[in-house]
Parts: sequence; C-alpha cells; structure tokens
Amino acid sequence: MKTQQPLTDMAHWSHTFAAEVLEAGDLAIDLTAGRGKDCLHLARCVDSNSHGTVLAFDIQHEAIHSTTSLLTEQRMTVATISRPQQVTGPGVFLIQTSHEQLSLFSPRQAKVIMANLGYLPGGDHAITTRADSTLKTIKEALTELLSGGRLILVVYTGHEGAQEESQAITTHLADLHPRHWHIITMRPFLCHNAPYLLVVEKRQQPATVRERLLQR
Ligand SMILES: C[S@@+](CC[C@H](N)C(=O)[O-])C[C@H]1O[C@@H](n2cnc3c(N)ncnc32)[C@H](O)[C@@H]1O
Repeated sequence: MKTQQPLTDMAHWSHTFAAEVLEAGDLAIDLTAGRGKDCLHLARCVDSNSHGTVLAFDIQHEAIHSTTSLLTEQRMTVATISRPQQVTGPGVFLIQTSHEQLSLFSPRQAKVIMANLGYLPGGDHAITTRADSTLKTIKEALTELLSGGRLILVVYTGHEGAQEESQAITTHLADLHPRHWHIITMRPFLCHNAPYLLVVEKRQQPATVRERLLQR
C-alpha cells in the first residue's frame, strides 16, 4: 500500500505548494531552518548542487547545526555565511541571524519564500518566532518575490505568543489587494489549535501593450 502523509500535516502541504512552482536554478528562501527538513526539500526542488540557490536563516546555532548535518548526510553542498553578502552561485547558504536580515543576503527575487513558524522541535520551546519580527519579514518577503512566486507559511496557534503572531499575519494579508495577490489558507477541520497553512502568490500581471509589441 502506498505510504501516505496524514492529510492534516501542514508541513507536507507546504512542500507540495513549493514543489509546484520551483524549478532547477531558482532561488528559494527558508526563513526558519530549524531541523532542516524544509531546507532540504527546497534544495532538492531547485537542484542546489548544480543549479539553484537556497538561503536558510535561523537565530539558533542548534538549528544551523542540525540543518547542516541533515543536508550533508543527503549529499547536498552547504556553506555557512556570517557577514551580509549577496550570495552568488548554486548551493545552500545557511545564515545564523534573524530572517529580518533577508534583504542583506538575497541576491535576486525568489520563487519561493517559506517559513515554518514557532519553536525548534526538540529544542528550547521558549525561543519562538515572534509577531513583530515575523510581520516585518513578511512585508519584506512580499517585495522579494518574483511574479508567480509564493510565500508559504505554516502558522501555529498553541504556544505563548502564537495567537498574536497568527493575528498579526492574517491582519496584514487581509489588506493585500486581490488584483496583485492570490491567497489561500488550509486548516485541519475539527482540530483545536492545530497549525494551519497560508500560501500567498504574487499574481503574474498581464503584459502591457508595449511589452506585447516587443515580444513579437
Ligand atoms: C518550527 S521551527 C522550523 C522548522 C524547520 N523549517 C524544519 O524544517 O525543521 C522554527 C524555527 O524558527 C527559528 N526562529 C525563531 N525566530 C527566528 C527569527 N527571527 N529568524 C530566524 N529564525 C527564527 C527557531 O529558532 C526555530 O528553529
């Protein structure tokens, strides 16, 4: 029988929504590296050993270490960088700093920017993503997306500060103009305080008359 992920596993769906748009050579950004599962998925989707680039942020050394170990085990090329620089070339670049520094490291607009919020599984539950910095980064991330690109968020509501973070995100997204953004949410039904998924896609704008003429 085929092995299935639980239908309510939002991390699984976040991977599906990323894979749907990513191609070899793209830039993908993981705002919260954690144990490295999302980063590994993005690295495979963009073929980071030969073509694409992944930037992954986390404030904790433990997370950067875990992510490095997982990717190295899976034979992915990884480099850790510490000073702001706009990285070039293929590979996975791990950065131990807050995702608020995103624009200092990002070399170009990204096809996918992903964040699995909350705390490090198996780590210190007191160190979590926070409403103020998450909101600041989301605003920045939306400007760093390519047309057709996606911001993919797994949002938690159960731990301290999580409701505030969730509220800040949804309030901001509710103000985005539907002409420019497609936004979907996916929530497990009848599961109190379960994490939920948000996918924000930057709509591809129709070509202007001038662009259409130039394409001929
Ligand atoms: C749920 S975990 C991420 C899971 C991860 N994506 C994975 O695949 O295993 C959340 C992570 O966010 C990190 N974090 C919290 N605040 C952050 C910030 N301001 N910038 C970057 N990472 C942050 C935590 O250290 C933690 O490792």
